Amino acid sequence: MREIFDNVYQEGGALFTKTALPRAKDVYEPWDPKKSKLAAMIAEGPEHFPLNRRSHVLYLGAGAGSTARRVAIMCTEGVVYCVEPFPTPFQRLLSVCERHENMVPVMADARSPERYIFIAPVDCIYQDIAQPDQARIFLLNWKVFEPGRGVLMVKARCIDAAREPQRVFDDVKTALEGNGLDVLESIPLPYYRGHEAIVVRKAQGR
Ligand SMILES: C[S@@+](CC[C@H](N)C(=O)[O-])C[C@H]1O[C@@H](n2cnc3c(N)ncnc32)[C@H](O)[C@@H]1O
Repeated sequence: MREIFDNVYQEGGALFTKTALPRAKDVYEPWDPKKSKLAAMIAEGPEHFPLNRRSHVLYLGAGAGSTARRVAIMCTEGVVYCVEPFPTPFQRLLSVCERHENMVPVMADARSPERYIFIAPVDCIYQDIAQPDQARIFLLNWKVFEPGRGVLMVKARCIDAAREPQRVFDDVKTALEGNGLDVLESIPLPYYRGHEAIVVRKAQGR
């Protein structure tokens, strides 16, 4: 098994995350790219992966915490702030956070970052929100938290079902670049038709 990112391992085509347990054997847990866009992105071999064991992450659209939990396993020395506004997934997110001391549940709409302005500084925003204004939400949070790095999972159909997905992705990238971000790479996601992972950082020299 080969470690490709902190606590993420690959063997053959399969992905695993590793949890080190005190006084017990390490647990390697299979991670299915069909069930997590982040796993699908990682399976594609990103060149500019922004997460490591020390990352402090603002995770927008955490849902029930299934991918957020893997981020927490990767970022063992950091913290993952998990924003989710809806009670049903939030209830499940809460019980996941109880089992991971570096996950913090935040019940809020990501369109209102002033509701969670109290969180500590973050160096990465990861967003997976299927809403028409997903790029605007990302930029809104970017301006408040100034993280330096980010991953935006874009679902083209949610933004404009009538347009060619590639044009939607291009518009999102133009909006990001017009707001002081560099697009480092964009990765079409296998298993998720019409989705792209866009990896950004704060534009250099600004
Ligand atoms: C695709 S699901 C997330 C799945 C999760 N990221 C995972 O991989 O386990 C999108 C989530 O975004 C949440 N969401 C929708 N609108 C939101 C908003 N305005 N602010 C924050 N989260 C939102 C939804 O409730 C849903 O849980």
